Amino acid sequence: MAEDLHIITDISKEEQYRSLIPQIKALISGEDDQIANLANISAALKEQFKWFWVGFYLVKGDELVLGPFQGPVACTRIKKGKGVCGASWEQAETLVVPDVDAFPGHIACASASRSEIVLPVFSNNEIIGVLDVDSEYLSHFDDIDAKYLKEIVNLIDA
Ligand code: SME
Repeated sequence: MAEDLHIITDISKEEQYRSLIPQIKALISGEDDQIANLANISAALKEQFKWFWVGFYLVKGDELVLGPFQGPVACTRIKKGKGVCGASWEQAETLVVPDVDAFPGHIACASASRSEIVLPVFSNNEIIGVLDVDSEYLSHFDDIDAKYLKEIVNLIDA
């Protein structure tokens, strides 16, 4: 396993994802502990993109519980359907929210967070959690993030 990332930032966002994804594959290959892999995926994404908050919430019963993440301390439990994370879980869909203040029921863990993207994480066709990425900038996420972050969460199921 490679323990150092090769981070290139003077390229397009798409190229940054294309450079990072094979490195994430290498990071998690050969390790079957899910928490270890989710922790390294969070760290790799934070190192590449310097987002305000990036991490996982994991399904435990009827709630999402805070999992491995990078960024400021966050809410620990989110009910199904609540906030962007709970809505993504309930709808089993990627949600791109350009302005969190315009999202009904958004859970403000940090007032600095202005936009976000949340993707469900599947394992054996079941949702085991969500990947949540928050930005301090409005409209920070788009279809490119949705496409490549989906590739990344799909690696967890592999
Ligand atoms: N923004 C999320 C809550 C989690 S934190 O932002 C880390 C939501 O509304 O689901």
